[in-house]
Amino acid sequence: PEANKFYSYEDCKATADWLLAQTDVRPTVGIVCGSGLGGLADMLKDQVAFNYKDIPNFPQSTVHGHAGRLVFGTLKGRPCVCMQGRFHLYEGYPIQKITLPMRIFKLLGVETVMLTNAAGGLNQDFKVGDIMIIKDHLNMPGFAGNNPLAGPNDDRFGVRFPCMSDAYDRELQQLAMDVGQELGYGDFLKEGVYCVLGGPSFETIAECRMLHKLGADAVGMSTAHEVIVARHCGMRVFALSLITNQAVMDYDSEEKANHEEVLQTGKQRAEQLERLVFTMVTKIEHN
Ligand code: 6GU
Repeated sequence: PEANKFYSYEDCKATADWLLAQTDVRPTVGIVCGSGLGGLADMLKDQVAFNYKDIPNFPQSTVHGHAGRLVFGTLKGRPCVCMQGRFHLYEGYPIQKITLPMRIFKLLGVETVMLTNAAGGLNQDFKVGDIMIIKDHLNMPGFAGNNPLAGPNDDRFGVRFPCMSDAYDRELQQLAMDVGQELGYGDFLKEGVYCVLGGPSFETIAECRMLHKLGADAVGMSTAHEVIVARHCGMRVFALSLITNQAVMDYDSEEKANHEEVLQTGKQRAEQLERLVFTMVTKIEHN
C-alpha cells in the first residue's frame, strides 16, 4: 500500500534527472511557497514550469490556494527552483511523499531551501499580517512517531540520527532581519517557534493554550517535515510564517479560524513577504 512505499535514492534521482534533461537552469536555491504565497514563482525569469501531475513520482496538490507547479528560473541571475504549492499530511499522503521534493531539490543541486507558510499566531504580541522568521520548531506529528525519516535510512542522503538543534540557519535569520530593516519591515518582522500539527481541523481553544505554554509562537500544518528532510541531506534552511490569523485562546472570543481569512491576509502581505525572500536570494553566497 501507498503508506508503506518508501521512495528510494534511485526514484529521487530518476525524477531529478528527468527534470534536469528539460531545463538548462541549475538551481542552487529551492523555494517552497505556502498558501496564497505562490506569487514568488511568478517573479522568476526565463521560466520552465512543470505541472506536478506531469512529473514522475511527484504527488499532486489538492488544496485551494496552491497551484501545483514546479517552476525553474532565475532571480536576478540566481538559478532557482520554486514549488508553487506543497503537500500536507491532511491531504492523506504518507509523510515520505510530502517531503519527497526536498530530496529532489538536493539532487538538482540545491544548497539552500527557503520555505514560506501561512500560520496562526499564538504569541500574544503578534498581529495578523506579521511575518515570523522561524528560529525553531515543535514537530508534534514526530512525537507520535510520524517523522519523515522513519523507515530505512539511505546514507547517500544523510545519517540515521540527524541533529536538529541547528535546523534553521542562523546566518540566514540574521540576513532576513537585515534585509527586513532595509525594506522598512521592522514593525511587522518577528521571530519565533513554529509548531506543526497534522490538521485539517484547526485547533481547539485548549489546544492553542497548550501549544502556547509549550513555547510555540505560531501554529500551522506544514514546513517542519520538509525542514527535517532538507537538513538530513545537508541543505541550509530558512523559513518564514505569515501570521494570517490569531489562534483563538479564550472562551469569550467570537473569532473562528477559517481558510478564507488565511487566504485574504495572504493576499495583503504576500507581496512584501515575496520581496523579502527575493532580496535575500540575491544576497545569498554559494560556493
Ligand atoms: Cl490557526 N492553525 C493551523 N493549524 N494552521 C493554520 C492556522 C491555524 N492559520 C493558518 N494556518
